[in-house]
Amino acid sequence: MQDDKLKKVVALCKRRGFVYPGSDLYGGFANTYSYGPMGVELKRNIKNLFWSLFVDQRDDMVGLDGPILLHPKTWEASGHVAGFNDALIDCKSCKARLRVDHLLEACLHMETEGLSLEELGSLAERKEVVCPKCGKHDWTQPRHFNLMFSTHISKTSQGQDDAVYLRPETAQAIFLDFKNVIDTMRVQVPFGIAQIGKAFRNEITPGNFLFRQIEFEQMEIEYFIHPSTWETNFESWMNEMKRFCHLIGLSEAGLSFFEHPQEKLSHYSKRTVDVMYQFPFGRSELFGLAYRTDFDLKQHEKHSGQKLSYLDPKTNERFVPHVLEPTFGVDRALLAMLCEAYDEETLENGEIRTVLRFNPLMAPIKVAVFPLMKKEQLTDIAQHLYKNLRRRFKTDYDESGAIGKRYRRHDEIGTPLCITVDYQTLEDQTVTVRHRDSMQQSRVHLDELSRYIDQHLHSEL
Ligand code: GAP
Repeated sequence: MQDDKLKKVVALCKRRGFVYPGSDLYGGFANTYSYGPMGVELKRNIKNLFWSLFVDQRDDMVGLDGPILLHPKTWEASGHVAGFNDALIDCKSCKARLRVDHLLEACLHMETEGLSLEELGSLAERKEVVCPKCGKHDWTQPRHFNLMFSTHISKTSQGQDDAVYLRPETAQAIFLDFKNVIDTMRVQVPFGIAQIGKAFRNEITPGNFLFRQIEFEQMEIEYFIHPSTWETNFESWMNEMKRFCHLIGLSEAGLSFFEHPQEKLSHYSKRTVDVMYQFPFGRSELFGLAYRTDFDLKQHEKHSGQKLSYLDPKTNERFVPHVLEPTFGVDRALLAMLCEAYDEETLENGEIRTVLRFNPLMAPIKVAVFPLMKKEQLTDIAQHLYKNLRRRFKTDYDESGAIGKRYRRHDEIGTPLCITVDYQTLEDQTVTVRHRDSMQQSRVHLDELSRYIDQHLHSEL
């Protein structure tokens, strides 16, 4: 049933212009996607909310837009060159390359986190570990593969040593500019730097749509603090992350929080909590909050030879700030929103209505304007109204087909309000406003419309 839901969401995404398979024209390119006209609006709404909440509405936050290609030493300092690996195994029979942890979890129903390559290899020798593609049991030894994509700068020679990496997280760009921000802006610890941008990971994935891609977008914050305050700051960022989940329309029932056990924490972290969401394919990580200590700044001090300490003007104490890192995946947020919003409702006439019940403020289109019929006296008013409204709200205009069909199309993309200009409009300057969720209609005067829409968009927060 749940798997079925994912298939329906994927089909709707293509049918209604949210998400297309990457390089569709050439038969697709695994684990990449294009966001279509509706998807791009939804994505912008997610990013705008993040920026508004965490940068614009706070005194202690600034933004940054760092490069995708950073100095190669960055990734040595951060630990990604040595440790950002997946253990992969090859089927000798059909040549499929798989993540050994996923394979063992599927065949032996066991957790494998923290096991060495040798331990994983001996588990893979069990007869029940068979290839999901060809059904054979004929494996190579597992090997570690680094998840970073590498490329070369053309003006240097083409040797291994000249490799540059596409960033696998946006976070490091923030650490690299910590000193520039301190030196040029009037910031005082505690303060944070936020960034939104692409990250790249050469991942082998079991194909859960947008969940795990090789190119995706992150919204990350590095929040610089005095170490004595990490616990209260951790709690307050966790609350902010919950608020963000609520505002993008995720219900509490679908959310849970996974505390990473001490022995399994990443090398840089003293505490990590994953925000988990109940996706149709299972409960999985949506966002994360990590206390990264002073690991990154100290590592960059060591590798760059530059001081990254901070002098507190009030206490005169000089220290390397510690860091809390709230991290959000744009694509996972969008997938969770689609899964949460997707609904099928059986109407009185037996017809099934598919509707995306987005939080109205997140919907790609806020208002649709329809003339009841394609008659000039109606289309003139409808066009005029559309041009007025689109200055304030993302608005669509549609005059083709039966009105019922136009409603269904907008239900499927989650438009909260549809406005129809009809013959009564000519008499009393009122229009029909039809609500997506209840399908109820009311008549509103043209002079009142903007205020009415505004109220409705904000009422469900
Ligand atoms: N800077 C910390 C960091 O990158 P992460 O848990 O590896 O931590 C952060 O990634 C977030 O990025 C995840 O919580 C998830 O939302 C998103 N993310 C990670 N890998 C992804 C992938 N392959 N495809 C889509 N989103 C991904």
